[in-house]
Amino acid sequence: MVSYKELGLVNTKEMFAKAVAGGYAIPAFNFNTMEQMQAIVMAAVETKSPVIMQVSKGARAYANGTILRNLAKGAVEYAKELGCENPQIVLHLDHGDSFEICKECIDNGFSSVMIDGSHLPFEENIALAKKVVDYAHQYDVTVEAELGVLAGVEDEVSAAESHYTQPEEVIEFSQRTGCDSLAISIGTSHGAYKFTPAQCTRNAEGILVPPPLAFDILHAIEEKLPGFPIVLHGSSSVPQDEVATINKFGGNLPDAIGIPEEQLREASKSAVCKINIDSDSRLAMTAAIRQHLAEHPDHFDPRQYLKPARENMKKMYIHKIVNVLGSDNKL
Ligand code: G3H
Ligand code: 13P
Ligand code: ZN
Repeated sequence: MVSYKELGLVNTKEMFAKAVAGGYAIPAFNFNTMEQMQAIVMAAVETKSPVIMQVSKGARAYANGTILRNLAKGAVEYAKELGCENPQIVLHLDHGDSFEICKECIDNGFSSVMIDGSHLPFEENIALAKKVVDYAHQYDVTVEAELGVLAGVEDEVSAAESHYTQPEEVIEFSQRTGCDSLAISIGTSHGAYKFTPAQCTRNAEGILVPPPLAFDILHAIEEKLPGFPIVLHGSSSVPQDEVATINKFGGNLPDAIGIPEEQLREASKSAVCKINIDSDSRLAMTAAIRQHLAEHPDHFDPRQYLKPARENMKKMYIHKIVNVLGSDNKL
């Protein structure tokens, strides 16, 4: 058993309580590589922000759970080396789909886990989440559960259609599971294609404008569970400048579209205290690599193109922290 406390990590409890009270959200950035970890830590340290580093099932398959845990341990030490005396870093399992995977992560240094039973019938979702909570809380590990289904398709995480969270279910769900935070469905979805052009309108310049998030549902949930930490998945905004760079340098991402940042800014001021971002990091990394290789066809040392990729991700993370989520200077 490796406790997250030995690694210098923290759980989400205090972080979320402060974020809900302070009207901001904690960034939850997915990571699969050392460069993503470095960029996340540099951004969090420079902005004095708490941060959640999250690992999906796909990330564990790609990079190996032990390596990712040691990257998170390295993240804490790196943050200190960069001058942050008391880094607030969470290592979180994203979309855990069984009790066993959650247990394995809890036993191996994770400070927070998500049990995603959102596709299950209500009673089964409750039973699974409660089993994980009962185990996790023995070790002071916090648990995120999900009610409502997000639309979209993203590698391991897929759902053909969305079902918004029903506000009338949230009190019973949170009480019976004992979960520490609740992921809800209000119109976000995973990946870089969150809406089809047919679901959008066009503004005066002909740019696609996606349908707004269901803030009425969010507010109804907040009324039922005052002060309870709410989580938004699928919250990449799919920056159009990165999409354009990718397409300019040989990529092909037609009609990629995300959640407008103003809406995430608004959500951050509410009980939404964790906002999940993965696709924007992928886009920032890919755009920088494509541009670099196109402009330097003679380069073949990965450090030559991974360095600008890391810089571009860091810039994106800082932008999210400072201009969208508002978690800067909250350490
Ligand atoms: O929620 C999904 C995350 O973007 C993780 O995606 O399963 O491809 O690592 P992944
Ligand atoms: P995006 O695909 O919008 O980045 O969502 C990531 C996510 O929700 C991870 O759990
Ligand atoms: Zn997600």
